[in-house]
Amino acid sequence: MSVEPLPVAGGMPLDPSPEQMRAMGAAVTEALVAWIGGLADAPAVATEGALEVAQRLASAPTDGGSDDFAALLDDALEAARHTFEYSGPGYLAYIPGGGLYTAAVAEFLAQGLNRYVGLWQPSPAVVQLEENVTRWLCDLFAFPPETSQGVLTTGGSLANLSAVVTARHAKLGHDFLDGTYYVTNQAHGSNTKAATIAGFGPDALRIVPTDAELRMDADALEAIIAEDRAAGKRPFLVIGAAGTTNTGAVDPLDAIADVATRDGLWFHVDAAYGGFFVLTDRGRARFAGAERADSITLDPHKGLFLPYGTGGLIVRDRTTMRDAHFEGAAYLQDLPPAGDLPNYNELTPELSRDMRGLRVWWPLSLHGVSAFQDALDEKLDLTERAYAALEADPAIEVGWHPQLTVVAFRLRDGDEGANRALLERINASKRVFLSSTLIGGEYWLRICIVSHRTHADRIDECTAIVREAAAAVGG
Ligand SMILES: Cc1ncc(COP(=O)(O)O)c(C=O)c1O
Repeated sequence: MSVEPLPVAGGMPLDPSPEQMRAMGAAVTEALVAWIGGLADAPAVATEGALEVAQRLASAPTDGGSDDFAALLDDALEAARHTFEYSGPGYLAYIPGGGLYTAAVAEFLAQGLNRYVGLWQPSPAVVQLEENVTRWLCDLFAFPPETSQGVLTTGGSLANLSAVVTARHAKLGHDFLDGTYYVTNQAHGSNTKAATIAGFGPDALRIVPTDAELRMDADALEAIIAEDRAAGKRPFLVIGAAGTTNTGAVDPLDAIADVATRDGLWFHVDAAYGGFFVLTDRGRARFAGAERADSITLDPHKGLFLPYGTGGLIVRDRTTMRDAHFEGAAYLQDLPPAGDLPNYNELTPELSRDMRGLRVWWPLSLHGVSAFQDALDEKLDLTERAYAALEADPAIEVGWHPQLTVVAFRLRDGDEGANRALLERINASKRVFLSSTLIGGEYWLRICIVSHRTHADRIDECTAIVREAAAAVGG
């Protein structure tokens, strides 16, 4: 006997009819195919009029609903159109992502299936699909298969938070207020934010000096740790970067690992931006020592070109992560503890979790690891190309030779106002979109190349736009 969907007054039934489901799926697929097909020609930034669109879309849900799916789809697309074009080839600001269609399809299926992935027993094979991904992440950094464990988070910030909490628990226990942790002033803000959320005040923060290439000075680190110990503090955590957000600098991970080992600190590597360059020969060489870390943050929604919402954390010793996050609950007594498969709930702040492994597993399986490796190698080449083109221009000062895929630059003769004008002029082209930062208190523009959709043609166009703009603003 077939069961008719329950009608809702005037609106779509909570379980739409098969025809309605097909029609919605087809409309979304068509819209996405057209959207992705138009990315190369889409303006790199389209926020003009966006607040008016926001105002027009401000509304409350109606009691009666509507079955006009087409109108809702139009609204969503209109909202998405008035934004930075994060997924396009000209998006070279902040840390670009990508937005793989294969991940979007995986996500559609995953949300439709609505499997629960907080504990292993309700859905063992679904947990296994996520484990395929997290095992691969651990293997990328040669973490020991017997003890290591990964989890997928919603982003790098949450991964850094779990890392700091794990480090705190492992090294300091419950009375931790005399603990001190060590970063450079190039570390991403999510690290200090994580420490603040984890209960550490500004007194716990130590800023380690950097060398001329903006990398942590490991000797200075060791000296500060010694001073802190002498002052009765408990140094517990050092965070190195495998690619800083400002300039892509890679800290001397091996030397930091030496210090951390000698001084008994937890060594966390924030590789949210740079981590997947480990797939390339150049990246692997630059990350030497990362394999000695206690934990590493990796963001598939950056270096694997996934849509926003997927980060990752790998930890050398899963018991440390469990000790920091586990809270038993009587209402979960029917569900067994982790065994061959993990209970992610015991390792993270989350209980209910979506089937997020699929949106990484399908792209990896469909495109193959070498497709990612090739794309990331191409980004390293493109960065050298951009750097060379800007370095050749006497009006432009390039800051640091890129260690990954960021080129920082500014006018050779120009104050902050002139450099702001330069950025405005470049972005007004709408073919590329760049962002700025402060390094040592000084204003710099950045080109950051990550998206799989960015190729040599757009980088050449970008450097031509920058040079023209520099001539116009500087001259
Ligand atoms: C080095 C680094 N760490 C952490 C983060 C935070 O990651 P998310 O934005 O995924 O929370 C970023 C984001 O750009 C980053 O570049």
